[in-house]
This record gives sequence, C-alpha cells and structure tokens, in this order.
Amino acid sequence: MVEKVYNWEDGAVLDEHSKRKHKVLREYLSEYLRVRCQHPNQERFRIAIVDGFCGAARYSCGAAGSPIIILEVLKSAAEELNIARRDQGLRPIQIDALVILNDAIPGVVELCKSNVAPILAEIKDNATNLAVDCQFLSNDFEAAYPSIKQTIQTRGHNSNVLFNLDQCGHSKVQLRTISDILSSYPAPEVILTFAIQALLTFLPKTDKDELSKRLRQFGVQIKTLDDVEECLTNKAWLGAAERTVFDAFRGFGSFTSPFSINNPSGYRYWLLHFAKNFRARQVYNDILHQNSSSQAHFGRPGLNMLSYDPDQEGLLYLFEDDDRKRAIDQLHDDIPRALANFGDAIEMSDFYHGVYNHTPSHSDDIHQAIIDSPELSVVTPNGGPRRVANTIRPGDVLKLTPQRNFFSVLFPK
Ligand SMILES: C[S@@+](CC[C@H](N)C(=O)[O-])C[C@H]1O[C@@H](n2cnc3c(N)ncnc32)[C@H](O)[C@@H]1O
Repeated sequence: MVEKVYNWEDGAVLDEHSKRKHKVLREYLSEYLRVRCQHPNQERFRIAIVDGFCGAARYSCGAAGSPIIILEVLKSAAEELNIARRDQGLRPIQIDALVILNDAIPGVVELCKSNVAPILAEIKDNATNLAVDCQFLSNDFEAAYPSIKQTIQTRGHNSNVLFNLDQCGHSKVQLRTISDILSSYPAPEVILTFAIQALLTFLPKTDKDELSKRLRQFGVQIKTLDDVEECLTNKAWLGAAERTVFDAFRGFGSFTSPFSINNPSGYRYWLLHFAKNFRARQVYNDILHQNSSSQAHFGRPGLNMLSYDPDQEGLLYLFEDDDRKRAIDQLHDDIPRALANFGDAIEMSDFYHGVYNHTPSHSDDIHQAIIDSPELSVVTPNGGPRRVANTIRPGDVLKLTPQRNFFSVLFPK
C-alpha cells in the first residue's frame, strides 16, 4: 500500500477513517479532562499534550484537524467543568496546558500556526481558568522527541502527558519511543495510528513459512506476502492482526487497546491507545461504545478478548448494542471465573487492574453483570452491600457468594 501524502497547501481531503479517529480523539480527550478534574478539592490541573504529526489543522472541507480539536476541547472543558463546579458550590479549577505541535514539513507548521491562531487568541482573550502554552516545532518526530521531552521537563509538565501520534503509514514511531514515553511519566498516554503494513514489521516477514504457519493458527490462509492486501477484508485476519499487535506491545506493561478503525471494505488502519492506569483504559473503552462502529474487534466479547479458537468462536465486535448484549452474557460466566483465579474476594481496583487489558467491555456492562450474578456480591468499605451497578466504586470489595452456581463449581470451563 502506498503511503498517503497530505497536500495541505492545496487543501487536504479528510477521509472517512480520519473522521472516525477525530471523533474518538475529541470525545476521549474531553472525557479524560472531566475524569481527571473531578476531585472537589482540586484547584489546578497540569497537562502536556504533544501532537507529534500535527498537520496543518484544517482540511479542505473546513473540518478541524487534530491541533484545533485539542485546543477546542481544552477550551470547552475549562468552561463546562467550571460551570458545573460553580453550580455545586465548589472552587474553580485552573487548567494549565502545554501543547506541542510538531510536523516534519516546515510549511505545514506555518499553515498550522495560522489556522490555530484564532482559537489561541480566543483562549488568551476570553477563556477563564485556562492557560495554554503552545509550542511549534518542525522536525521528524523521532528526531524531535528528545527536545520535546526536555521541554516537558523544563516547563514542569511532567506528570500528565498525552501523545497523539498520527503518523502516515507505519514506520515513523519507534517502539522504543512508545516504551520511553510510557516509562518516563507518572500518568502517560499515547494514541497511535498506523497502517496495516506495520503488522508485517512485527511478523517474521523474511520467513514466509513461519508467517503462514502463524497466520494459519488464526484461520487465515496466506501464501505470499502479496496476499496481505486480499486478506484485509477477512475478519479472521482482523483477529490475527489484533492478537499480533497486542503481543508485540505486551512487554510494555501498560493497558493496550489493539483495535482497528472499522472499515468493512478493508481493515487498514489501527488506532491504538496505551496507558499505564486501568482507569484510562476504562474511559477509552466507554468512549468506543459511545462511537459504536468506529472501531472493530474480532474475538470474544467478555474478559478474555483474544483467547478464542478461530475454528469454534470469534465474532466481530463493533461496540454496538447487540455486541453489548453478547458481552453481558459472556461476562456472567467470565467474572466469577476470573475472581476464582484471584481467590474469593478482591478490591474492585485490583480486579479492574487484572482484567482491563483483556476486555473491550463497557464499564456499565461489567458492573451490571456483577450485580446480576447470584455468584457475586459487592461490599462497600463500610461493610454494606452494593445493589445498584452504577454505584460500584474502586474501593469496594468483590466477593464470590457462598451459594455459587453448581455448574460453574462442578464443571469449570
Ligand atoms: C495523518 S497527517 C496528520 C493529521 C493530523 N494529525 C490531523 O488529525 O488532522 C500526518 C502528518 O505527519 C507529517 N509527517 C510525515 N512524516 C513525519 C515525521 N517523520 N515526523 C513528523 N511529521 C511527519 C505529514 O507532513 C502530515 O502532515
């Protein structure tokens, strides 16, 4: 596949996969800020956002690119959070954001500067409770990374750090850089786009026998690497790709969401989300359900999304209502079994930590399956029972009830 080239000077075309990506970015960032700024006693939140492949910020149709999306979300979050806080009688919260916009092409950065100028002026002149320090850079992302890291450090923004790495193609971000980001900050997150060829860099492409053997395990027949293009619409291929990507990033010790951007005419682009904290993955999963059909997962719906036998099971999961019904059925079985593996009781935060890397599920579905299950109970820190799904909190304890279902005890799967 030829790498897509963006002609920003003459007007870049916004394609369908980028629209889906932008919707996820906008809603995820907005929810991220809501969740991270919700403590009643908090009066300041500092964040660094790096848009490493920022483009010129406006498409030919007039739609906003990622730099404008980031600035618009910061502005509306500062407004909305503070209106809600005022209504609750809370003190305002100030958001201090360092935004670093980088693109390899100097002319693109100049266009970006002029396209973001109105929203930056609007923030400077009219936004209360928001300060944005916007820095522009023009370099290959990998070459720019050390100085980006240095800027984050010297400006004192090195706790909450979010990198949006919307590379064209697949080869412009090194795995070691993602690993470095995830190990350099207390609360790092990365949103990474890549095209399907990236998968081949993780596969033993010089050894075609090994490659075919590996894909055959997932029910994908591939005779030569040239057949990959034909495979793109094959759901089993989607499952194989997802599992391979997940395996490639497993060593990072983070929460990795390995889902492709949904496109039935070809699963060509992946939108990966990396975080160190289960809460980030929980928010991300919930946003994908809000954007149902934007991303696609092929495999099991419950807690063990990648452990399925391609000959027996494995379905497309598009984060839609019907998928959620299947997920709840599966979670009814999976959660008691997962809990039995931990022991018979566990704090909810530890349970989330243990399961979130392996599930596409919405947090509401996990909580509903827990409340519905006769095999499970949830106890508050005061020792009382939880009876309503949306009141479950990370500090609660999840327990196996003494009257467990006979079948699950006698015939564990
Ligand atoms: C997919 S476009 C970015 C779109 C933008 N993030 C958005 O959502 O509106 C990718 C951009 O990366 C730039 N680019 C290509 N190679 C690069 C590299 N090695 N480092 C940084 N930028 C690069 C291109 O000039 C292009 O503008």
